[in-house]
Amino acid sequence: MGSERIAIFDTTLRDGEQSPGCSMNLDEKLLMARQLEALGVDVIEAGFPVASEDDFAAVQAVARECRKPVIAALCRALPRDIERAWQAVSGAARPRIHTFLATSDIHLEFKLQKTREEALVMIREGVRTAKSFTPDVEFSAEDATRSDWDFLVAVFTVAIEEGATVLNVPDTVGYTVPDEYGRLIRYLKDKVPGIDGVTISVHCHNDLGLAVANSLAAVAAGARQVECTVNGIGERAGNAALEEVVMALSVRRDALPFETGIHKEVITRASQTLANITGVEVQPNKAIVGRNAFAHESGIHQHGMLSHRSTYEIMTPESVGANRTSLVLGKHSGRHALGKRFEELGYPLDKPALEKAYKLFTKLSDQKKEIFDEDLLAIVRDGLTQI
Ligand code: KIV
Ligand code: ZN
Repeated sequence: MGSERIAIFDTTLRDGEQSPGCSMNLDEKLLMARQLEALGVDVIEAGFPVASEDDFAAVQAVARECRKPVIAALCRALPRDIERAWQAVSGAARPRIHTFLATSDIHLEFKLQKTREEALVMIREGVRTAKSFTPDVEFSAEDATRSDWDFLVAVFTVAIEEGATVLNVPDTVGYTVPDEYGRLIRYLKDKVPGIDGVTISVHCHNDLGLAVANSLAAVAAGARQVECTVNGIGERAGNAALEEVVMALSVRRDALPFETGIHKEVITRASQTLANITGVEVQPNKAIVGRNAFAHESGIHQHGMLSHRSTYEIMTPESVGANRTSLVLGKHSGRHALGKRFEELGYPLDKPALEKAYKLFTKLSDQKKEIFDEDLLAIVRDGLTQI
């Protein structure tokens, strides 16, 4: 029996772009959009058209160029925003209007100065207006995880009555925890009439470092669309990282029996394209796409890896399009990895030579953080002949 499909909604070009230092011009957005299409995302959220002329033009360009995925345009639940979103996205092969309104009392009181009743009216009118333009309408209850659960039931009931096809439950400020978020999704599934006929979406921010864990808990509870960004870029601490969600679902299919349409071997290229465009480097220890994600330094780990990759690797670098596993030579490395590297460099060493080389290597690695091939070549050329 096939697994259920999780739609990957990429918001790198919208929420990701709201990350400090990550703004992109139209050409850069198009370049990234092509990568996202090659990656196989189901939805590209291309921007927030009412925000600026540039954003409008970028959404319009992505909508015209990327014909496979759904192209979404974000807008507040206001008539002018919705019209602008539609103008920008209407040229897409598969357009979506994504409209939102905050539903927590904190946002209603301090940001919108609206009562809950007024918010329900705005949601009804907003979804209705969006639906008059296109059948594919997503509604997001901003700050859902700090909203009253029964009020959320009322909010989503209204959105469904007006024809929303996707209901998003954002953890806007990265406040929830996996167990609670899973319970909220189940509560909504249980209480909102007609929810079985629509897609439940999740959108998690990473303020407590839980965005991916929360997204996966929501999937286990019934969500079927995950909103995420490449490299996890986004407001403040970022959004759920696409590559982590996708690889968790892929590697742990036994625990989470779902599949995505992502071409995993394109993940590294997409990550690097984004880093090149924005100039924002990926942290070295970032899961899946960080420089060290497939690097092993300690002697015990390197020995294990040389015996069998499965000892310390739960996925291969090739599976995500990365070059190869690297056994980084540093002060924690052992003879096995050193001998293997000498062999690869064309210098197979016998036991006594390797012993001498190892002594020189440990001396050098006390002085240098990382040992490069040039250092090893110096050891065989100069060091070994002198000893
Ligand atoms: O974080 C959030 O709530 C959002 C919504 C607009 C979907 O980005
Ligand atoms: Zn967000």
